[in-house]
Amino acid sequence: MTHYPDRHILVIFGATGDLAGRKLIPALHEIEKDPTTRGRTTILGVARAGLTDDAFRDQVVAALAKHAKPEALRDWVSRCVFYQSLGDASSYAYTALRQRLESLERQLHLPGNRIFYLALPLPAFPPTVESLAGAGLNTSPGWTRLVIEKPFGRDLASARSLNALLHKHYSEASLFRLDHYLGKETVQNLIAFRFGNALWEPLWNRDRVSHVEITAAEELGVEARGSFYEQAGAVRDIIQNHLLQVLALVAMDAPAGLDGTSVSNEKLKILRSIAPLQPDDFVLGQYGAGEVDGKSLAGYRQEPGVSSTSKTETYAAVRLRINTWRWEGVPFYLRTGKRLAKKATRIAVTFRTPPATVFSPYIVCGSENNRLLITLQPNEGFNLSFQVKIPGGGMHLHTQEMRFRYAETFGALPEAYQMLLVDVMQGDHTLFVRNDEVEAAWKVAEPLLDTGREPLLYPAGSWGPTRADELLAPACHQWVNL
Ligand code: BG6
Repeated sequence: MTHYPDRHILVIFGATGDLAGRKLIPALHEIEKDPTTRGRTTILGVARAGLTDDAFRDQVVAALAKHAKPEALRDWVSRCVFYQSLGDASSYAYTALRQRLESLERQLHLPGNRIFYLALPLPAFPPTVESLAGAGLNTSPGWTRLVIEKPFGRDLASARSLNALLHKHYSEASLFRLDHYLGKETVQNLIAFRFGNALWEPLWNRDRVSHVEITAAEELGVEARGSFYEQAGAVRDIIQNHLLQVLALVAMDAPAGLDGTSVSNEKLKILRSIAPLQPDDFVLGQYGAGEVDGKSLAGYRQEPGVSSTSKTETYAAVRLRINTWRWEGVPFYLRTGKRLAKKATRIAVTFRTPPATVFSPYIVCGSENNRLLITLQPNEGFNLSFQVKIPGGGMHLHTQEMRFRYAETFGALPEAYQMLLVDVMQGDHTLFVRNDEVEAAWKVAEPLLDTGREPLLYPAGSWGPTRADELLAPACHQWVNL
């Protein structure tokens, strides 16, 4: 979309928290630098702490230390950044918040458009939504939008009750369930790549594709988020949201349009067509201690905030089947883990080997004839591999790659949060997750939750438990561990 967003107030709940400082404030600063979005947003930080506007402005300036000099920010923050303490979060505090919004809108001649961004932990969502509605903040003189960060619920039942609560007070059109993976350029590009080219679509099905792997590997451990992670684990943190969303975009049919409804409809069909997972369809792991580049790394159970007997999985590998005409019989393998060998988020689409040909002797179990490797991050781009003859006598094949790198063509890519915030400002749902999608994704993930299984230990810095190879072995497939 290219139209300028309406002028509005963005209310950030959790404004003194980690997400606001690391992601939202830098994204809002970029939005302010862009001429198409400049001057449209007034920021009202909200948190329990009793800060003045100026004290919060100092925090905003500090959060941008890597991006801009304090003097260059003073004018913007003093015109556009404000703070309201929520204190004990009583109904009086919410009434005071409403009065503050009304007074800012009068003072700045704003039309009453409001975005409430809940950068809060999951248990805080329901009381915050109730209190906003209780203070009449589910309506406004202009439009009202509510942004909810993942995780959206802890399981299917809690996601359903959160959806029911939201729908009691807000229309689905005013809700934006945010999954930051959908804001990544490379993820959005899946739509352009698949449906903006005539080349792929005839190949993108069970006749030509052997299997698909989607991996989100992280080098980092849980860092300072041990106590959060103990309640989450890899399935709730990554598989249920980020990886199932990427899978839906890889597997879906062409949408009727690029609007949110059309894209969500197609993603939903895929999520609802995934066959129920069986106990031997997944492997859960947990990182133990290890050594990387001569540096010894603690195991998960030694991390701060983590129980020394924790069974929380820091790794999950899953084999899925999608029961549609397009994908029947094609395995999709999803994998994520912390403290793996490297940071790499990618999709590997491996095509079938040619039918019996003169080259049959060269085709052995696990050989990757034609593979499209889509790297979502880092070093964003594609590698397409194919066979060529090695020059000289005899007929010997060599696997060659064609490669494209975003950075070489376009330079640095924008941050996901910047893209997604602008979409909220414009009311564009294309990159957000609809209520039925989120519930369908929980339904897929449910058999992986709270299984009571002891996760398999893997050394920090490895590619995870070797047992995960056995998910692929029966079909003669292999993980792409590049
Ligand atoms: C977040 C998870 O949603 O995504 C984190 O909570 C994870 O645990 C992060 O590290 C990964 O995001 P990215 O963009 O670095 O792949």
